[in-house]
Amino acid sequence: MRYKFLELGEANAPFADAIKEALVRVVDSGRYIGGDEVSGFEARLAEIHGVEAEAVIGVSNGLDALRLILRGYIELGRLNPGDGVIVPANTYVASVLAITDSGLRPVFVDPDSATHNLDTARAMEACGPDVKAVMPVHLYGRVCWELRLDEMARDRGLIVIEDNAQAIGAKAVCDGMYGSRMTGTLGHAAAFSFYPTKNIGAMGDAGAVMTRDSGLAAVVRALRNYGSLHRYENIYTGLNCRLDPMQAAVLGVKLPHLAAENALRAANARVYEATIHNPAVIKPLYSEAGDCVWHQYVVRVADRDSFRRYMADNGVETAVHYPVAPHCQPCYEAYRSVSLPVAERLASEVVSLPVSRCTSAEDAAAIARIVNRYDGKPLPFQE
Ligand SMILES: Cc1ncc(COP(=O)(O)O)c(C=O)c1O
Repeated sequence: MRYKFLELGEANAPFADAIKEALVRVVDSGRYIGGDEVSGFEARLAEIHGVEAEAVIGVSNGLDALRLILRGYIELGRLNPGDGVIVPANTYVASVLAITDSGLRPVFVDPDSATHNLDTARAMEACGPDVKAVMPVHLYGRVCWELRLDEMARDRGLIVIEDNAQAIGAKAVCDGMYGSRMTGTLGHAAAFSFYPTKNIGAMGDAGAVMTRDSGLAAVVRALRNYGSLHRYENIYTGLNCRLDPMQAAVLGVKLPHLAAENALRAANARVYEATIHNPAVIKPLYSEAGDCVWHQYVVRVADRDSFRRYMADNGVETAVHYPVAPHCQPCYEAYRSVSLPVAERLASEVVSLPVSRCTSAEDAAAIARIVNRYDGKPLPFQE
């Protein structure tokens, strides 16, 4: 038996007929930039998140969504080149690329090794006077949010930019005012990615910005379109970062299935949580609260190569998210000397097990039993 990590054709098969119909509609419409497909998708995404339609701006991809938010705040004078932006050291490199591309300074914060997410206490320590924004990344689909983080941002007047590329549909379960709010609506602005492997994936690149700040929304809407809201009037030196109507049409088919998609992933995570009992394999934090939409199910092991070899020999494809922390990438040589031991350790230990709709609950149970038979050394005690 082979257990694939993710096969996109198979993942999209249940939607294929509806997607083909939607694409034919775009072809026949003669409208290949903007139009109803894009505005309709923006409105549906807004509705799911309980925000006004104007709060969502469809864009070209998740990285551009982050870039447009940061650039928008620069245009509004709320951020200035050189300002510090707190970012978890354990993230996909795109979070950091957006910061440096905007002429801002990433202030890397070591993650909490249990959540793999931003460690609020460390973020508070790192928050010097030149820090003007914080970018919580809901990595692997897990909400990166707590009231302390919100309080810190309020106390210090920080702009909060959620990197929600991996967590569409997740809900913050903190006590108090944020009890039932979805990721994407927790901060001042949020970036979504619809990269094909995401929980809701396009058939190419796509993304969105969500913000209740109407001033920022207007700037981002212009920036994505050459800096223009009205033809031949360029208010900003903008970009071409529009959401493609073909991708909007694909997403329009898939978005209504968001809850079902996340439920399938949650069911697999539940099986892993209940079945994996191997001291050599550290499972991710688990709760039934909906605060993780399981974009990835990430375990930690001492000898990753041997674990992955063992899994492959037993028919299970695994992946690594991510083998190199951003500050260790060649392009960030300037940050190489920053001490971020937790992020570096996680980069050497993490392994993702199959969790998408291509994995049935029976598959997950079989994979868990294979994990349980792995004869590896436990991770040394840390912290
Ligand atoms: C955490 C995170 N941020 C940003 C991005 C960038 O999104 P995109 O690939 O749509 O540009 C990704 C994409 O994988 C991501 O995982």
